[in-house]
Amino acid sequence: MTQNLTADDQKRAAAIKALDHILPGMRLGLGTGSTAAHFVRALGQRVREGLAVTAVATSEATAALAREFGITIVELNELRHLDLTVDGADELDGSLRLIKGGGGALLREKIVAVSSDRMIVIADESKLVGELGNFPLPVEIVPFGYRVTMERIADAAAAAGCAQNLITLRGGEKHPFRTDGGNFIADCDCSHIPHPEDLDTRLSFIPGVVENGLFLDLATVAIIGHTGGVKELPA
Ligand code: 5RP
Repeated sequence: MTQNLTADDQKRAAAIKALDHILPGMRLGLGTGSTAAHFVRALGQRVREGLAVTAVATSEATAALAREFGITIVELNELRHLDLTVDGADELDGSLRLIKGGGGALLREKIVAVSSDRMIVIADESKLVGELGNFPLPVEIVPFGYRVTMERIADAAAAAGCAQNLITLRGGEKHPFRTDGGNFIADCDCSHIPHPEDLDTRLSFIPGVVENGLFLDLATVAIIGHTGGVKELPA
């Protein structure tokens, strides 16, 4: 049957499908963004029906939403280790490499993903790309000396062979966007990122860079909503 799902329907369908991976007693990581919010609401419905899970949120916004839906939220320090994280993405490729951080939560998202046995990424089909980079790469940086740090990020993108390296401070210099950790976000428009691992390594060596939005070797499964339903990768 043809369903013709909108992008938001696709996000919701992917989020609901992710519930198939949830077992009673699991320690979960909850992502940030509109797709992750669909998952939190769907999970909250299950919790109201009696499912017992404990969760760590990747942002204050997700923590507030989860509590509203009756999901027990604790600090990562309390659990230390998570069974599964479910989160959205701004882009993903066929190898399940991701760009994240469009919502500014990339630092907590990466800490939580790295603390999990498995990460499921949920997304609508527009997020699935042949090569990463069309979505500007978010890089969380400390405010001190941010212009110098941004120049170094642009140099790293060029050295890693990116098609371009146009960098902007999110929110602009007058009213810079602040992350939950009080840092800035530099968005690096690379157009194409031919060597994500190389760029990730180069960015990690820049003083002033707290974390970047490349999530490599973290997602184990992707659930993609499309106009006719959902599909899982790897198939
Ligand atoms: C937030 C993220 C989000 O997962 C990403 O921006 C996708 O958002 P959405 O689900 O609203 O499309 O990385 O930092």
